[in-house]
Amino acid sequence: LNSQIFLQDANEIRQKINRYLMDLVPCEPESLYIPVRKILGAGGKRVRPILSAFAAGINSTDDSWLPAAAAVELLHTFTLVHDDIMDNAATRRGLPAVHVQFGTNAAILSGDVLIALAQESLSKMDSLFAARMIAEFAIGFRMVCEGQALDKEYETRENISIAEYLAMIDLKTAKVLELAAVLGALAGSEVYLEEIRSFAHHLGLAFQIGDDLLDLTATHAELGKTIGGDILEGKRTFLFVTAMEIYDQLAETDQALLDRIRNRAAKPDDVETARQLFDRIGVLSSAKRAKKDQTVQAKNALGAIPGGVARDRLDAFSDFLLERAG
Ligand code: IPE
Ligand code: IPE
Ligand code: MG
Ligand code: MG
Ligand code: MG
Repeated sequence: LNSQIFLQDANEIRQKINRYLMDLVPCEPESLYIPVRKILGAGGKRVRPILSAFAAGINSTDDSWLPAAAAVELLHTFTLVHDDIMDNAATRRGLPAVHVQFGTNAAILSGDVLIALAQESLSKMDSLFAARMIAEFAIGFRMVCEGQALDKEYETRENISIAEYLAMIDLKTAKVLELAAVLGALAGSEVYLEEIRSFAHHLGLAFQIGDDLLDLTATHAELGKTIGGDILEGKRTFLFVTAMEIYDQLAETDQALLDRIRNRAAKPDDVETARQLFDRIGVLSSAKRAKKDQTVQAKNALGAIPGGVARDRLDAFSDFLLERAG
């Protein structure tokens, strides 16, 4: 698929979803909805709704996927608002995080109401599979909570293996992309559901490994989040977990830096040093390889789907995600 056409399709979906979300969210009370409208309007990439629309595999005049796609974007936005409280993150989408601008109580409640709005949106699906969609949504919601619990639990755990890391990001990140894809597929042709789910699963893993990389390699302007936040919070990211595997072979100063990250004692000055360390010991290239490898597995999952525009779109989507800079 021509990348120009892909970008046009993606933009059209973004516009539709943005309009739909702004119509769905009430205006009053303002103390509740101003923060919600602000985070929704702050310009997320909308990769999940784009995935839903492409998984629906239907022509651009049919918008039957929209309420389900919006439900997933609202669920995702809920995770961001609460995640920033949990991660002590000051910036989101280039703006102050909701809890920073409006206070923690407003951020908790914004997240809560985003879930209510997601369910309301999902209930607008006019589909034979409505009950199935509601079940998929509830399970996706539960799993992202489970993943966030593990993410926090691991911050204070001594040793995390790559397998544990992958299971954690599967829950906290990949399941929401899977949900986007599955709801899209159910809204559309309802065929090749498991292939599409597996595609989204691998893309989700690639996406979070990429997010871990961007925490150190992107610029603030591209990312709209604080660079090095994972280092300061002692997150068990792909980079950290991979570096810890060769801890014994490292020089003392490098070990001391990893110890500071592990003990959640790293300071802003450590961020650039950590990036250099991860570069020097090959951790950044390992992460790039792992991300690429998951993307290849995602593409392989598409192999069982007959060729055509729908498959080409999903394939182009995986290239787009692999190359994302922000
Ligand atoms: C950020 O998601 C959280 C992760 C799962 C990595 P996105 O990178 O999709 O955030 P927005 O929606 O574009 O802001
Ligand atoms: C992503 O976790 C998963 C969720 C937000 C549920 P991160 O904590 O890495 O996300 P960012 O980097 O803050 O966007
Ligand atoms: Mg987090
Ligand atoms: Mg975070
Ligand atoms: Mg992150």
